[in-house]
Amino acid sequence: MNVNAPDESQANNRPIGVFDSGVGGISVLKHIHALLPHEQLLYVADSKYAPYGNKTPAEITARCFEIADFLIAKGAKALVVACNTATAAAIDELREKYALPIIGMEPAVKPAAEASKNGIIGVLATVGTLKSAQFAGLLESYGRNVEVVTQACVGLVECVERGELDTVNTKTLIRLYITPLLAEGADTIVLGCTHYPFVADAIREIVGENISLIDTGAAVAKQLKRQLAESELLSNLNRQGSVKFFTNSPAENAENVIENLWGKSADVTNL
Ligand code: DGL
Repeated sequence: MNVNAPDESQANNRPIGVFDSGVGGISVLKHIHALLPHEQLLYVADSKYAPYGNKTPAEITARCFEIADFLIAKGAKALVVACNTATAAAIDELREKYALPIIGMEPAVKPAAEASKNGIIGVLATVGTLKSAQFAGLLESYGRNVEVVTQACVGLVECVERGELDTVNTKTLIRLYITPLLAEGADTIVLGCTHYPFVADAIREIVGENISLIDTGAAVAKQLKRQLAESELLSNLNRQGSVKFFTNSPAENAENVIENLWGKSADVTNL
């Protein structure tokens, strides 16, 4: 036996649990996997219950508890709520209930306000995120010196869930939601839902090259790395970490949608 071999049962070598209302959080998972390639990742797509955007905070919190219990039972050493809507609804309750590092996410109002040249920013997000107290707090803290134009994108999460990233229907919906932001003169647009980076190309086609699109996935991965380091929970395994997907989607093409968004073949278990 090699006495110097890393011990897989050690707390720091246990997996990181990542979840979203569906497949959107895979946009965050990609950043995590790129920044922390030795970490083992478990991803739960709660697609049967997507979208979260029109659910009450209590309903969303109940879903988050169920998923957190599942991931912790699988040995998770930390959780990433890869969903702006779930973070707004449930992050405080999650942190109160579970004693492990929990990383959430919020629309990138602060970076957008700093990046905007004309002081007008647009925020695309779900109804749930936009009407949350968390978002009101974000505007209070970082939106005071800029004009913030918000737009709820009802139906767009469902397009991504179906794997329809550039169909006529999806592009029509995107145009409908982007047009008011452009009319108000926004030069910077926040992708305030983790499903939206998957339609960034379709958004780019409509807005052209001069508008900045801001997504929070990379910042979440960095924050996760910082918190794992502080808690001495970074993996010391020196091989490529495994990535496992779990989905409760009733759709027949659920596995294909995940593989398409992940960009390669994926280990998918149906729940
Ligand atoms: N990906 C989720 C988010 O970031 C979408 C929420 C939904 O299912 O409506 O907000």
